[in-house]
Amino acid sequence: MAYHIAATDDDPAIRKILNIILSKEGHTVSVCENGDHLMALLKQSRDPIDCILLDIKMPGISGMELLGILGKKYPTIPVIMLTAFSDLDTGMKAIRSGAEDYLSKPVRKSELLSRINEAVLKAKKRTDEKQKAQKISEQHKILEDQLIETHHSITRTMMATIKAFSETLEQKDPYTRGHCSRVSAISLNIGRMCGLNDSEMTILEGGSLLHDIGKIGIPESILNKPERLDPDEVEILKTHTLAGEKILKFIDMFAPYIPIVRSHHERYDGNGYPDGMAGEEIPYLVRIVTIADTFDAMTSGRSYRKSVPIEETISEIQNNKGLQFDPELVDLFINHKLYIINAVPETQPEIEPVLSL
Ligand SMILES: [Fe+2]
Repeated sequence: MAYHIAATDDDPAIRKILNIILSKEGHTVSVCENGDHLMALLKQSRDPIDCILLDIKMPGISGMELLGILGKKYPTIPVIMLTAFSDLDTGMKAIRSGAEDYLSKPVRKSELLSRINEAVLKAKKRTDEKQKAQKISEQHKILEDQLIETHHSITRTMMATIKAFSETLEQKDPYTRGHCSRVSAISLNIGRMCGLNDSEMTILEGGSLLHDIGKIGIPESILNKPERLDPDEVEILKTHTLAGEKILKFIDMFAPYIPIVRSHHERYDGNGYPDGMAGEEIPYLVRIVTIADTFDAMTSGRSYRKSVPIEETISEIQNNKGLQFDPELVDLFINHKLYIINAVPETQPEIEPVLSL
């Protein structure tokens, strides 16, 4: 293979010998008498340099100094240092500083040629591997971006499906119109204040929108009954938690929302349903939704009762701190007025109060 070699040495005799030997072998040789000439050559040469022969001891910028500069500016060009016969330590130091190889002067022709060939091939292999790695990394980045976009698209579809679900439920139970979206907005207020990360906030949003989805299977005669429910009806209504879980189990992507749907009627003191979980056994996101759900259920009307004023609702939630609700979350909820949401749709039928379920 013929290479373009930059031979840099302050000794004109050595430059001449190198030029003769290498040119005879078919290589193109550019001779430089010092570091400045070499840098100018590297900058201006149209024919790329394949290998640099560099004398260590030169006036002006020394070979070692140049080695550092070359490593940064031209990392792909292999540098072979030329040392005096007695200068073995410096040669080793040059290798440690990034030189591809070193040769002690005087150097035999065969050795010079084989070491140049070896250095160029080694450097080429290294560059090829680097480029390959770079290409792989770029392909990974493209795949990663595509994956993120697909994930966003799935999330958007999922949220649209969830909203359609919750609207279907609200069609069936007009007294809870807007309830799911308000519970979601309040839950997100609390979640934000708790410093939840994006993925937790997404689960909180979807779970709170879906929390009552199991009511789809509850007869409208129970959902919209204007009087107090009898004990059997209460038991039927309670099944909406497990019914909701059953619905969501059919679709894998809804799995993260199941705990909120199943457990949003659990109580901090363990007297809730369906599992009687207590305290921190109840998942954190569920404890958030429980407060938001109760607040909105009380402050908006139901078929069997009028809405409860906000102050009264807050005091009821305060009284149930540690009983129905996580005490720390109640403090956060009340102290930061996290129940305040914007653009809340109002549906408050004028019906005599009977009982809050
Ligand atoms: Fe519920």
